[in-house]
Amino acid sequence: MSIDPASIVEVAPRASLRIPAHLGVIMDGNGRWAKARGKRRTEGHIEGVKALRNLVELCINYGVANLTVFSFSSENWTRPKDEIIFIFNLLRRFVASDLQRLIRNNVQVRIIGSREGLEPSLIRLIDDVEAKTAANTGLVLIVAFNYGGKAEIVDATRRIASEVAAGRLAPEQISEATIEAALYTTGIPHPDVIVRTSGEQRISNFLLWQAAYSEFVFVDDYWPDFNETAFLRVLEIFSQRVRRFGGIEAASP
Ligand code: FPP
Repeated sequence: MSIDPASIVEVAPRASLRIPAHLGVIMDGNGRWAKARGKRRTEGHIEGVKALRNLVELCINYGVANLTVFSFSSENWTRPKDEIIFIFNLLRRFVASDLQRLIRNNVQVRIIGSREGLEPSLIRLIDDVEAKTAANTGLVLIVAFNYGGKAEIVDATRRIASEVAAGRLAPEQISEATIEAALYTTGIPHPDVIVRTSGEQRISNFLLWQAAYSEFVFVDDYWPDFNETAFLRVLEIFSQRVRRFGGIEAASP
């Protein structure tokens, strides 16, 4: 029996891949992807949704338990109104076209962010998709929509402050766990790795508290081009990182 040498190269790095329990993704570059092809920005967003669908499948296949994607930030309100409406409709269309598939694939969807400024029909849709997938036990897909890390911390602070004002919590009882419990992401492990596409190297208000010890991987591809090869490259880079969480390497003297 002959062994194709290409298959050895293929299998070796995958065997040593470390799979993050939580992958965060700042999906950046839809507009530039479109511009580079002489297309409208909205076409970049449509391709971006395809890349997201593909990533969900990859996470399921490779056993990533939690995936958070940044799909609309609280700062994105400064974009042209047409584009905002388009992105909002994209979320509606994504839910309409993919809900059954997500349910079939045992995906639990959580949409984190502020409900302020969202149309009631969109809020109903968000509540509906969360309710219909709440009992699913597979991949947790967290969509950060109308989300800002600072706003999340403000919201958490308000919630804690009202507990204090009501006399149910003493200020000295406030710990990191109190804040954790008041965040949108409560119960979800912090991201092991955060990827940003399009060559930008910023966190842009994404999961600020939760990113305290995340590994960052910046890739040059625009988001619509993020495919399985790029995904595996990210896992390989992550697998080679040594995480110390403020301590020292276990093997160090
Ligand atoms: C980043 O590209 C994309 C966004 C800010 C929003 C659109 C998100 C998606 C298409 C993913 C899926 C969305 C939903 C709602 C499920 P950019 O517009 O910032 O690109 P640029 O930096 O090149 O202008």
